[in-house]
Formats: sequence, C-alpha cells, structure tokens
Amino acid sequence: MACIRVVLALSLTRINALSTTAAPTKTLFLAKPTVNAEALLQHFAAHGCCVTDVDAHTRFAFVQFESDADANRALALENGPYREAKRAHASINDRNATAAAAWDALCAKLRGVTAGAVVPRSHADRVAARLAARGHETLAVEQVGVERLLLLRTRDPAAFAAETSADAVLAGVCVPLALDGHKPVTDVAAAADEIDELLRDASAGASTRVRVRTSPPALAAEITRRLEGATAYALAPGQADLEAHVAVVDRAYVCGVVAAPNREQARRKQVASRAYFKLEEALDLAGVEDLHGSHALDLGAAPGGWTESLLDRGASVVAVDPGALNESVGARPGVRHIQKKSQAARNDGDLDGERFDVFVCDMCLHEPGDAVAALEACAPHLKPGALVVLAIKLTQPAKSTALNDKRAEPYVERLRPLLDGAAAHHLVASRTRERTVVGRWRGS
Ligand SMILES: C[S@@+](CC[C@H](N)C(=O)[O-])C[C@H]1O[C@@H](n2cnc3c(N)ncnc32)[C@H](O)[C@@H]1O
Ligand SMILES: *[C@@H]1O[C@H](CO)[C@@H](O)[C@H](O)[C@H]1NC(C)=O
Ligand SMILES: *[C@@H]1O[C@H](CO)[C@@H](O)[C@H](O)[C@H]1NC(C)=O
Repeated sequence: MACIRVVLALSLTRINALSTTAAPTKTLFLAKPTVNAEALLQHFAAHGCCVTDVDAHTRFAFVQFESDADANRALALENGPYREAKRAHASINDRNATAAAAWDALCAKLRGVTAGAVVPRSHADRVAARLAARGHETLAVEQVGVERLLLLRTRDPAAFAAETSADAVLAGVCVPLALDGHKPVTDVAAAADEIDELLRDASAGASTRVRVRTSPPALAAEITRRLEGATAYALAPGQADLEAHVAVVDRAYVCGVVAAPNREQARRKQVASRAYFKLEEALDLAGVEDLHGSHALDLGAAPGGWTESLLDRGASVVAVDPGALNESVGARPGVRHIQKKSQAARNDGDLDGERFDVFVCDMCLHEPGDAVAALEACAPHLKPGALVVLAIKLTQPAKSTALNDKRAEPYVERLRPLLDGAAAHHLVASRTRERTVVGRWRGS
C-alpha cells in the first residue's frame, strides 16, 4: 500500500524532471517505451514495483525504484510496455549525456519543420497525400493520443494555415499549425514565453485578439493561462486577429504565430449534404475545375450534395433518385430531378435522347458490382471521354484500410477496361469502406 501512496504522490512535473541523484543500482534503463511516463509508472505499480522517479523520452526511459528488491522485480517482468529493460550501467547511466544526445537528435529532426497538421489517425495518410499535392511535404508523423500530428515542410507557413482552413475538404478534418522548428524549447513555460514574444512582435496593439491552438489540444488551456495578463494583445476564444500555435513533439515545444484565418471564409460551406465534399475532392483529383457547358448524370443524387457540386462548377444536371432533393438545390436552374430508381428512369425512357459529358454515381446498392452494372447500363447515354466518378461502397467492409483497398480491387478491375486513366481513391471525406473511382469513359 505504501507503494501506491508513493505513486500517487508523484506529480507530473516530478515525473518529467531529470533527476541526477539516482542510485544506479535502483535504476533501470528501458529502451523504446511505447507509453508515456505516467503509464510506465502505472505498469510498475500494478506489478508491485515501487517507482520513485520516471524520466521518459521517445527512445528511452529511466525508471528509478524505491529499493533494489523493487528494481529486481521490475527486471524480472516480461512483456512490459517497452522493448528491453536493463539495469542502468555506468555508461548508460550518464543521463545528462543521453538526454542531451536525444535532444540534439530531436532538434535535428525538427529543423526543417515549418508547419503541422493535427488529423484523426484514420485520415493521416489521405490528408498527407492531399497536402503533398499542394506542395506541403510531410517530414514525420507523430502520435498524439488518438490523433496524428503531421510535421510538414511548407514554403509559406502563414499561407499554409489560411489555405488549409479555406480548403473545404481539409477544414473539417485537420487543424493546421504554423510551427518554427528552428527554435524548439524544453518546457511549457519557455513555450509560453516564446509565444508571448512572437505575439508582441506581431500585435498591432492591446485590441489585437489572439486565439491559441495546440497539439495536443489540452495544452491550449495551459498556454492561455500563462499568457493571461498580457497587455500587448487580448486573448479571445472566438474571432481572432492572430493565432498562436504550439505543438509538443517528444519533449520539445515548437511554436508559431500567424494571422488568424478568416473564419467567415473558412467556415464550412452550407451544402445539401456532406457528400458534396467527396465529389469536390474527386473532381480536384481528376484535375477538373470548370464544368460550364457540360451535361451531367447523377445517379443516387438525393439529397443533392453531388448535384450541387456539379451545378456550382457550371454543369447542367439530370439527378436520378427515388428520394427527395434538397429544395434549394432542386430549384436551381439547370437541374432536372427524375424521382425514380435508375433502372426505372432508363426503362421508362426518361433518359431517351440524353447524352452526358459527366457521369457520377453515389448510389447505395446491395452489392458494389451493381454500381459498375449501372455505369454499363448507361453506356448509350455517355459521350466518349465523359468524366466518370463512381463510388464503390463495400457491403462487407474490413477494419483496415489496406484490406478494404483489396476488397474494392475486383470492382476497380472491372472498371479499368471501361475507363481511360481509371484511378481508385480513398477520399479524405469518405468512410473507411468507400473507394471512389475516377476516369474517362472509353466509349465504343
Ligand atoms: C449516399 S446517398 C447519395 C448522396 C448524394 N450523392 C449527395 O451528394 O447528397 C445514396 C442514394 O442512393 C439512392 N439509391 C439507392 N438505390 C438507387 C437506385 N437503384 N437508383 C437511384 N438511386 C438509388 C438512395 O435513394 C440514396 O439517396
Ligand atoms: C545534469 O543536468 C541537470 C539538469 O539540467 C544539471 O542540474 C546537472 O548539473 C547536470 N549534471 C551533470 C553532472 O552535468
Ligand atoms: C439545402 O442546401 C442548402 C445549400 O444549398 C443548405 O444551406 C440547406 O441547409 C439545405 N437544406 C436542408 C434542409 O438540408
């Protein structure tokens, strides 16, 4: 029980502090801890090993025990949340040298970083791909709780934050941060000082409003608290003129200050459905901007996100769906809603005489192959070279992205002979079970 009390008495600052007074015999060196200091401490406590200090880094940790017996018990444990445990010998017990070398390595890694993006784990690859297409290179991916922090190299960090906030596809899933990797600091107090200095430089006066955004998000409260009382600017939770950014990477705090993105402009566009952003993304990937003069067929159109995206780009649209269209979308010029299933629309002759430059299909069907069949059935109505965007919705999805890619592959294969330049994408705005194929109708 005494052990538990020792454990609870340890404050976080204590855990983080580098201690140099450790008796070597009571200290273990752990390589590659997979959890943070607090969790390491809980792990040993749960096995009855009394810990008095933990010094955890990404690549190593020192754990100091109350007695040799505790250290020995810890050494005998198997399958801890770290790769290997050794008694700290003289060579590796030089904590300051080890810590200094780790810090230097961390600084070298951060040197090229000019920005960051916080994204859900499931979206990290897709967001990185979209950012790469815009010239923002991902240098490293850090784990931050259930999220990921992409560390980026970008030419203009201020423009990056504004541009990413204004990107309708990214705005909903990603928090952009401007970060200067040249000047990492070691603790939250130094980070707050750094931010304060940057803000005073950038501020136009006491009425300049500042919003704080951080990775992890919970850090924002601490930074904000430390900035309270500043007179050169005013902290504001809502609309701001400047944004202060801080990200923690391993033990380094990386900071940046930028003009706040225009929130009016950055606010997610009001659309008939969130599916709007899927088609926007697919059209971006296809390199299609303008659709003026194009005639589009939208199968499974309700409530109307895809139809709206097509209209926004200048196309006229035949929207087929037994469901209702959003009223304001349905009332826009250039829309004709055929309120039937696609088979019925064809069989009833509703598409007679129609020839389309664009075919899109987002129908929810019994089987993904039905979407391919729907495209084939519309062949007489498609112009050669017509743009095709077709959602493959797996009806038996797997948990992993790679497995779902594999399950979608047979349907992509069926589409390849029909389309030129067929490419299958897992869109940022799509669920894990959905892939989107983009290509050009080959015609006959
Ligand atoms: C995910 S929703 C489409 C969302 C739409 N793309 C948007 O942007 O709002 C799927 C739609 O497929 C429609 N659907 C299912 N089977 C259909 C069929 N055989 N013919 C036409 N539409 C169908 C459903 O009525 C439903 O509205
Ligand atoms: C090790 O680092 C600590 C904290 O930075 C410092 O106080 C201490 O003097 C250093 N010890 C040695 C032997 O350099
Ligand atoms: C219909 O779509 C518009 C955008 O075109 C949107 O503002 C509105 O909220 C939608 N209506 C409904 C009922 O979802």
